[in-house]
Amino acid sequence: MVKTILITGATSGIGNAFAKLFAHEPVHLILVSRNEKMMGKMKDEMPHRNVTIIKKDLSAVNAAREVYQEVKQRGLVVDRLINNAGFGLIGRFDQVPIEPMSDMIRLNCSALTELSYYFLADIRSRSGKIMNVASTAAYQPGPYMTVYFATKAFVLSFSEALSEELKGSGVTVTALCPGPTHTNFGTTAHAENVRLFSRSMDAHRVAKLGYQAMERGKRVVIPGALNQFGAVAAKFLPRILGAKAVKMAVRPTKH
Ligand SMILES: NC(=O)c1ccc[n+]([C@@H]2O[C@H](COP(=O)([O-])OP(=O)(O)OC[C@H]3O[C@@H](n4cnc5c(N)ncnc54)[C@H](OP(=O)(O)O)[C@@H]3O)[C@@H](O)[C@H]2O)c1
Repeated sequence: MVKTILITGATSGIGNAFAKLFAHEPVHLILVSRNEKMMGKMKDEMPHRNVTIIKKDLSAVNAAREVYQEVKQRGLVVDRLINNAGFGLIGRFDQVPIEPMSDMIRLNCSALTELSYYFLADIRSRSGKIMNVASTAAYQPGPYMTVYFATKAFVLSFSEALSEELKGSGVTVTALCPGPTHTNFGTTAHAENVRLFSRSMDAHRVAKLGYQAMERGKRVVIPGALNQFGAVAAKFLPRILGAKAVKMAVRPTKH
């Protein structure tokens, strides 16, 4: 049976790499993001695939429910939900405007939670899979990226708990925890001159490892040996040391 895969944030970076991976399979892709033109271009580049485009700002209240309703109106049943869309912001907490910070919480946490909620019954009916893109940021507090790190801790905790809750139901939940990865993330976060991003992984490699882990039903996947080491170290070291390490790594190299 042709699988129906919904990917949020497929117009760029890791999500775009996911879409390209699935393009080699007999799937129906549902792409959800704000950039309709880019999604249209992606659809044109995959003439041999069914591609449905849903233009949506997922940081808006009720956006997840509207996406679900649109998918239902089109008569589609989702097998794989890839909650990938997300962004970060760098800066001293009291100097970052509150509006984009609140948008970040709604996109990274609320939309991901609500999409999982609305689509779960359909995914269960197909013994399907959910993948939530967290981050190695989930493993320690992140000074100068305070809210972003906290959103990713939420995503990891939520995913691990839901995975355990759904054990035996036929549905698996995978948290993908990339470290720094070459995408537009750094530009959006204003992180061009930040040490943390000086050594980044390739987005296609990250997506491939995430895809393989999701298909195997793994609970958590951390791409890259260095990132795995960092996550393990964060589990054993006092959390304040992790926070201090991030503080040094996130501080801009140029002023
Ligand atoms: N790159 C890294 O270093 C890194 C590391 C760890 C985790 N991650 C996580 O990986 C995920 C993907 O990020 P990326 O690195 O691939 O960044 P990216 O290249 O900036 O891609 C972000 C994607 O999210 C979509 N998006 C952003 N705001 C949205 C909104 N309000 N509504 C709907 N879609 C929205 C964007 O699409 P539109 O602009 O078309 O809406 C875009 O397709 C994020 O969850 C991020 O936190 C990234």
